[in-house]
Amino acid sequence: MTDLTSHAVDLDGSRSFRWIADGMAFGADYNPEQWPESVWAEDMELMRRAGVTNVSLAIFSWVLIEPSDGVFEWGWLDRMMDMLHEHGIGANLATPTAAPPMWLMRAHPEITTVDELGHRTAAGGRLSWSPSSATFRHYALRMVRELATRYRDHPALRLWHVSNEIGNENNVDYSPEAEAAWQAWLGKRYGGVAGVNQAWGTAFWGHTYGDLSEIVPPHHARTKHNPGLLLDWARFTSDSLLEHFIAEREVLREVTPDTPITTNFMILSEDGSEEYSGWAHEVDVLSNDHYTIGTDPLRHRELEFSADRSRGMAEGRPWLLMEHAANAVNWQQVNRAKEPGEMIRDSLSHIARGADGALFFQWRASTAGIEQWHSGMVPHSGGETRQFREVEALGAALKALAPAQGSVVEQAQVGMLVDEMSQWAIKASRLPTGLLKPLEMGRRIHKELGDRGISVDVVPSGAPLDAYRVIIVPTLYLAKDGVAEQLAQAVEAGAHVLVTFASGIVDETNRVIRGGYPGAFRDLLGMRAEEIRPLFEGETVALDDGTAASIWTELVEVGDADVLRRYAEGALAGQPALTRSVRGAGTATYLSYEPDGAGLEALVDELVELAGVTPVAAVDRGISVTRRVGENGSFLFLINHTQQDLTVDASGVDLITGEQHEAPAVVPAGRVVVLDERS
Ligand code: GAL
Repeated sequence: MTDLTSHAVDLDGSRSFRWIADGMAFGADYNPEQWPESVWAEDMELMRRAGVTNVSLAIFSWVLIEPSDGVFEWGWLDRMMDMLHEHGIGANLATPTAAPPMWLMRAHPEITTVDELGHRTAAGGRLSWSPSSATFRHYALRMVRELATRYRDHPALRLWHVSNEIGNENNVDYSPEAEAAWQAWLGKRYGGVAGVNQAWGTAFWGHTYGDLSEIVPPHHARTKHNPGLLLDWARFTSDSLLEHFIAEREVLREVTPDTPITTNFMILSEDGSEEYSGWAHEVDVLSNDHYTIGTDPLRHRELEFSADRSRGMAEGRPWLLMEHAANAVNWQQVNRAKEPGEMIRDSLSHIARGADGALFFQWRASTAGIEQWHSGMVPHSGGETRQFREVEALGAALKALAPAQGSVVEQAQVGMLVDEMSQWAIKASRLPTGLLKPLEMGRRIHKELGDRGISVDVVPSGAPLDAYRVIIVPTLYLAKDGVAEQLAQAVEAGAHVLVTFASGIVDETNRVIRGGYPGAFRDLLGMRAEEIRPLFEGETVALDDGTAASIWTELVEVGDADVLRRYAEGALAGQPALTRSVRGAGTATYLSYEPDGAGLEALVDELVELAGVTPVAAVDRGISVTRRVGENGSFLFLINHTQQDLTVDASGVDLITGEQHEAPAVVPAGRVVVLDERS
């Protein structure tokens, strides 16, 4: 059996913990306080049927635990913790700071966030607090200490779940306390006002500051604010939220040094306010919440991208899917119900990409409150339902996957650099086109590789690159210091790098690098673009291979790079569009336009061949394939997203059904097969 002590390790490797379940974790946010205690017994029975191992408890329970200032009542939570333990279920116990009580909001309205128009957030939502509020911090840490002290030795306690999606509803704050913290943050970062003026280029529009106290947060204005300021405002916001997490974590560590601590991330929200690649170093277990968007026909691909990104931030270590939906959510325009089988494919896709557990929001669908139309593992219609039977099937599958717990996804041959900072810089600027989507090229290339059965590590810049034969740099608008040098070294050593348009354009202060685009990578690529020539929506420009460019084109001048494709019409007719330089044992390719489907497919095929990248296994198109390897063996995860039976050139026993498969093994339509390759 897997060594359970070694698989929840913080990224410094200095702390290790027992994993939160004996196998893959399975469960949900559990809000028993919404139900009469008579329902709890039924919950325990349904949890047993489903094979639930862990629930996240007390997330929004602050007021029930502390009904008035300094008065603590533990009755129901004590009973629930005991009940969970009796039923062999672990608690991911939440610090309930996502939901400050009404009495606190009333006594201290100044703890809440203020929006860019100066409105204070009213009571009635959640996460309304300002991370810069000293008063809120005081009350929150008092609660955390009381909770940790109460349950420090409780046998049900497995994991601390700090607050909930910190930054989700409190991601911007223009309160006076935030302003003071912002000015102090700037002083620390730049050493004084002169440094800020220099970094942001405040000579523009006469914005030069005479004193740090003049630098107010970017309140609503008739024009967009300075791009350097906005980028730093995003950094400051992320740092403030992280500081709150660390403050709670330190109390928990002091009281319960042996219990792992996490906070649930929201990796992939494009307007995210948290630099999770940095936060990842502060948690003991990386956990993520993921919801698919019903209108996205490629939602399973987006899920895969997000899961690969979560693993990349966890530096390849097992992570935890803290929330996803058993069926529909309730916050989209139309909340699409999942197809039969889709929930299992979704959950196991995360597991296939390194998660050691799949939990849902939430256990039982609420009848009251704003989330009354959000699915739960147990629907309004109860346990005798199609949906709950699928939940039971998933629980059984996860139980059968216990040997894979603690294993890691096999080293990918392709790495892809994705940074929040780059997305923020794009958002902070007025670019040549508003049609540029920061993650679009990354997702498209990730999908193309996935279609070919090729595994991709999606990593933040700065991650080690030595293991990759191919490194994709998609729309890395802001190149962090040192990234260009690191890529150059990887190429010298034999890697094949693909840089796409709108990369390497600005430095860490969001200033354009002079001399032509992509400034940071020009030397590596042996070319420069003199001009960016964006296209209108629907407008295309033909290339000499018969494919077309959209959204973005450039006037490119080559140095020592070869020209692989040229523009074939318009102002750029005859000019280079796709170039490749040779450096040492590797190459660096530059794509100056957004390619159409055929253009991208051809480019990915070429690159794969050039670098000799091999698939995880020879699968039919439509199967997503990954391999996890660990001390219990090697496990091939095969997820058929189509409505036809497909095959893979592999054999082994399917851990889920126990069936022996000989090559070529059939993966039935819409199903998941996990081959234990030892057998
Ligand atoms: C998450 C949140 C949960 C629940 C869920 C609904 O963002 O953490 O508490 O609101 O969304 O999809």
